[in-house]
Parts: sequence; C-alpha cells; structure tokens
Amino acid sequence: MTTKAIVLAGGRGTRLYPVTRSVSKQLLPVYDKPMIYYPLTTLMLAGLREVLVIATPEDMPRYRDLLGDGGQWGISLAYLVQEEPRGLPDAFLVAKAFIRDDPVVLILGDNIFFGADLPGLVRRAIVDNPGATVFACQVQDPSGLGVVRYEDGRVADIVEKPANPPSNHAVTGLYVYDNGVVAVAESLEPSSRGELEITDVNRHYLRRGALDVVFLGRGMAWLDTGTHDALLEASQFVQTIEHRQGLKIACPEEVAWRMGWISDAELLRLADGTSRAYGDYLLGLLDEPGR
Ligand code: TTP
Repeated sequence: MTTKAIVLAGGRGTRLYPVTRSVSKQLLPVYDKPMIYYPLTTLMLAGLREVLVIATPEDMPRYRDLLGDGGQWGISLAYLVQEEPRGLPDAFLVAKAFIRDDPVVLILGDNIFFGADLPGLVRRAIVDNPGATVFACQVQDPSGLGVVRYEDGRVADIVEKPANPPSNHAVTGLYVYDNGVVAVAESLEPSSRGELEITDVNRHYLRRGALDVVFLGRGMAWLDTGTHDALLEASQFVQTIEHRQGLKIACPEEVAWRMGWISDAELLRLADGTSRAYGDYLLGLLDEPGR
C-alpha cells in the first residue's frame, strides 16, 4: 500500500482576474518560487513520493514543463486534466485510476503551510487515520471557509462558508483520506453553487465517527493565496523568513536532498538549471556545518 498524493491546481482563479485570465494561479510566483512548489514540498516533506498534479487542459503543458516527471527530485509525478472546475472532491473522480486501492492525501495548489511540526502531523495522520483527517487552523475571518463547530469541546459539525461562523477554526486545504473517499465523492450532489463540496465529504466521515480534526497550533502558519492581498502577504512572509534565516521555504531540490532522495552530485547538477542566486543557495547546502 502506497499513500498517493494529489495537488489540485486547476480552478479559474477569478478573484485574481485579470492576472489569471491567461495564466494559472498556481504558476504565479510566491516570492521566489512558483506557487505550486509550496504544496508540492509539503507533500514531499511528509514522505509522499507518488504525486498527481491536476490542472486545467490549457495549463497542463506548463505544469509538465515546469515539474517534469519528478525524477529530478526523487519523486514520481503524474498529470491529469480536470476539464471543468467542478469542485474539490472532483479530484477523486478525476484521479480514480491513479488512486486505485490506496489511501490518498489531497492538497490545494494555492495553500501554503509553514511549520516544522507539519510533516510529522501528516505522517501520523496517514498511519492513524480513522477514515479522514483534516487540519484546522485559527483565522481571523473564517466566513469564506469550512468552519468547525464544537459542542462540549468536541467537533460537532463543519459548516461551509457560514454567515455567522461558529468558531474561528477553519479547515485547511490539506486532507488525508482512506480509499473510501472515491465512493464518497461519487455519491455527492453539487451544492447550490453548482460544485461538489469537500465539506460534504468531511461531514460524511464525521457522521460515521471516522473524521479526525487535527488542530494546527500557533507554531504553524497557514496561508492561502487566492486574492491579491493574500498573495502579496504570502510573498512577504516567505521573503521575511528567507532573508532572516538564509534558508529557503519550499525548495524541492533541497527537500529531495534532505530526504535522501537525491545525492550531492544530483543536487549540484540541479543548481545548473536555476538562477544564480537559487543555484548558489543549492550549492551552499553542501557546505552546511555539521552535515
Ligand atoms: P478556489 O480558490 O476555491 O477557486 P479558484 O482557484 O478557481 O479561485 P476563484 O475562487 O478566485 O475563482 O480553489 C482552491 C484551490 O483548488 C485552487 O488551488 C484551485 C483548486 N481547484 C481546482 O483545481 N478545481 C476545482 O474544481 C476548484 C473548485 C478548485
């Protein structure tokens, strides 16, 4: 059994128009890297190496061009097209033949996670998964998101885009499911906005007592990049941390190397195909003290 992983990188990105009229949101830069590097490396850090990228028919060639077959980073990348943005659970219908009989982790292509604890939490969720595991995070304004409702300190429901949010705990765009998620997605009806809703999938598991909601605490950052302000803030966040630490966030070459999936020599070769600054960073990793 190999846990499969999906980066969902389709969608219209209408909130970023006109920027995303002719280019996919997840190809836009978040500071010094394409946005999709962030969710992709989140999966890699959790040890997931069989990854499917789902994108629109128009954007697919660009993703293939950017990411290749993944072999350069010690992972395997597959690609499938989502013809229309029918909602997040549509990923499981598109990916049915890719998932086969395995569990699956889904991450949204515009979600950025930062925090040293996250890879361990995802790995633990994969091992201990009661059926579905989602990760919740405190946000100032959860009204446009899936929001956790508690009763007596226990998760009682997840409410999609509530006018009056029952808590400030939003469900993030990272989900761990058992193989049953494909059948759950197949059973869904579109919501009033005409899309399949991931909240309906999660409520399905909750009703069966098979949903784990893992709270991401203060030491973790969760950003999405769906609006101009959010995108700029995400870039500034990455810039701030990278300037201060001299360490890059979401550098797939570095992650692959630290995971032991590529050798020093392979890292050196990858440095060639990048900018001077990015390449120098990769070369500098080889001189780290104490390695
Ligand atoms: P959203 O931000 O909900 O949608 P969007 O990216 O199309 O943007 P907008 O609301 O501005 O029109 O999508 C969240 C993520 O999921 C994003 O990375 C795109 C992806 N997505 C798909 O790939 N397919 C889909 O059917 C949907 C709804 C989203």
